[in-house]
Amino acid sequence: MQVNKIGAAMGAEIVGIDLSKPLDVADVQGVLDAFHAHQVIAIRDQNLTPGQLVTFSRHLGPLEDQLNARYTIPEHPEVLVLSNDMKDGKPVGLIDGGDYWHSDSSHRDKPSLATILHAKQNPKVGGDTQFANMYLAYEKLPADLKARITGLKAVHAVSKLKNKRVKVSERRPDAKDHYEMQKAIPDQVWPMVRTHPATGKKALYVSERFTVGIEGLPEAEADEILDFLFDHQVKPEFVYTHKWKDGDLVIWDNRAVLHRGAGGYTYPDVRTMHRTVVAGDRPY
Ligand code: SIN
Repeated sequence: MQVNKIGAAMGAEIVGIDLSKPLDVADVQGVLDAFHAHQVIAIRDQNLTPGQLVTFSRHLGPLEDQLNARYTIPEHPEVLVLSNDMKDGKPVGLIDGGDYWHSDSSHRDKPSLATILHAKQNPKVGGDTQFANMYLAYEKLPADLKARITGLKAVHAVSKLKNKRVKVSERRPDAKDHYEMQKAIPDQVWPMVRTHPATGKKALYVSERFTVGIEGLPEAEADEILDFLFDHQVKPEFVYTHKWKDGDLVIWDNRAVLHRGAGGYTYPDVRTMHRTVVAGDRPY
């Protein structure tokens, strides 16, 4: 297995490993070391069935239940289909997954450790995934703001209808009902600066998609801080844009990066991804 750095802000590719075959301890350790060193890794030239994707993903830890069961693969409910493809006039997958910057499941009581996305069909145009490095974003904060947010906790909400900074996509037919239902799900409160349990590094832990307030601060004061942080954390020098190649399997560390799907493709130009998520722990 060979690891090559691919982005200035973060990111590496791994070549020379076949994830459809049984992996030995050294293979798994090699993947984990690259994951901790580079935050986003693209393992090239894979062609995994959903079952093989689940088997590989479990090397990184237990998998999360997918919240949106409507678009999972029936025999492998751990695998969510992201797609703009249609069958009999109906979407075959989640069409607008990840359209705003976020860290997966920061709205759940145990936010995600890693997300794994395997390209099944890449569009001819667009379809990039963007990643922002939250170690760097934290490191480059002005000293007074670093001190101000250390010890503060932010509120994370899953429903888009609780967040004035995001819009519900027009492209998903059931989206409004889905987010209306999600309004009843309790918010979570997490440190705005978290410590990565494996690397010990500090990372900024807020996102435009899920963070809706700061515990104990009036809305206007929280907004001033959050608006600054949402601009700062995705500055171009912190961002790596992944341009998908056929056979790519990308793993990112939700404890250290934000991500979003950049869009830019339109049916019948099809993008289909299979996605699994490795469960994490409570941020501290
Ligand atoms: C996601 O947010 O998990 C999906 C990102 C993408 O489709 O590029």
